Amino acid sequence: MTNKKAYKGNVIYSKDKDTLIVYDNSYVIVQDGRIVDILKDLQPDFPNENVINYEGKLIIPGFCDMHVHAPQFLQMGIGMDKELLDWLDTYTYPNEAKFKNIEHANEVYSQFVNELLRHGTLHVNCFPSIHYEASSILFKLLENKGVYAFTGKLNMDQNSPDFYIEDTNKSIEDTEKFIIEHKKSKNVTASIVPRFAITCSEELLNGLGNVSLKYNAPVHSHMCEAVNEMKICKELFPNYKNGAEIFNQNNLLGKTPTIMAHCIFMDDDVLELMKNPNCMAVHCPDATSNVNAGGIMPVKKLLDLGINLAIGSDVGGGTSLSIPRMIATTIQHSKIRNMFDNQYEAVNLQEAFFMATRSGGRYFNKVGAFDKGYHFNALIIDDFNMYGDNYSSLERLERFCYSGDDRNIIKRYIDGNEIEIKI
Ligand code: GUN
Ligand code: FE
Repeated sequence: MTNKKAYKGNVIYSKDKDTLIVYDNSYVIVQDGRIVDILKDLQPDFPNENVINYEGKLIIPGFCDMHVHAPQFLQMGIGMDKELLDWLDTYTYPNEAKFKNIEHANEVYSQFVNELLRHGTLHVNCFPSIHYEASSILFKLLENKGVYAFTGKLNMDQNSPDFYIEDTNKSIEDTEKFIIEHKKSKNVTASIVPRFAITCSEELLNGLGNVSLKYNAPVHSHMCEAVNEMKICKELFPNYKNGAEIFNQNNLLGKTPTIMAHCIFMDDDVLELMKNPNCMAVHCPDATSNVNAGGIMPVKKLLDLGINLAIGSDVGGGTSLSIPRMIATTIQHSKIRNMFDNQYEAVNLQEAFFMATRSGGRYFNKVGAFDKGYHFNALIIDDFNMYGDNYSSLERLERFCYSGDDRNIIKRYIDGNEIEIKI
């Protein structure tokens, strides 16, 4: 009796940024949670009971949301007429401060993790709150569901309201403690999360950089996001050439896996730093058109430069946890950008899907695609309710991204195990 399983359907995944591979009516062979092969025909002796038949449906990799604020799940769609810094002061800090209450954190984060999975996000890079206990709850909830994740404890020690600010040394100490106490998880890795340069003192950034180096911990922050933020950054850190150097010179950029959200306004020096293979820029198209007004990331330019690029929902700056929806928005925004600056072409479905799957998954060890040896972290897409014509599998994928929703995701697998969600 083999422990191999064969999942039958129309299989699609990214080979590289320009290529989506399609195996229509084929079998993904999975053993011990990993992909062994993709076959057009099964061996005649393959046991029937090990065939899982999704004939006619799409089998695609689970999505990667590489920048999402877990506590802001409660404030999606609020204050969308505000500029970033006003929005943070008015809505975000008061909301995040409530996660001091661990019952509240448990309730909201349980729902948040369920909603991520419901939308097909199986790999995630979370932004937490400053609270140790709440952040630990989030870590454990992700771990219990098997989600591939980076998550940590947020740091901020200046330019923050009295009710939501940390002591510098305590912030560094708690971060080190968090990393030590949350080290051994299988799929979840503890990360270092300075909010952004302007809410962190140089002393804090330096201390966090040392912790990151000591434990090889990934770093997650925001950079080059908004016109006002960059202006304040220059005033606060006059000795640094740009916003990226503040991270770079404090060992928070590129020494360990480094994920920087937004990266809209990057000059040549910053682009050069971000070419480091340890770095990843995260495009958050929805947030860009909500609270972060001022520009749109030149996605095509970054792709052409070979900078690692992923997609994030940036909830609550973004208003949906759906990464397929963010794929469509990425393409739409790149077209709008192209109308005003035709230096860079718009991106296409291949490129945006790549960012949301294989590219986003690069830090999680063989996820986001269906190469041999990759984890079977997959979604089954049933588009019967929108199946209007004899469309190809690629056309159906495009249609799912633009017009589908979580109801079209009928199954989710992580490491070959079906993941149950609450509807
Ligand atoms: N920059 C610093 N904090 C935040 C946040 O919570 N959301 C967004 N979009 N940008 C930020
Ligand atoms: Fe953000």
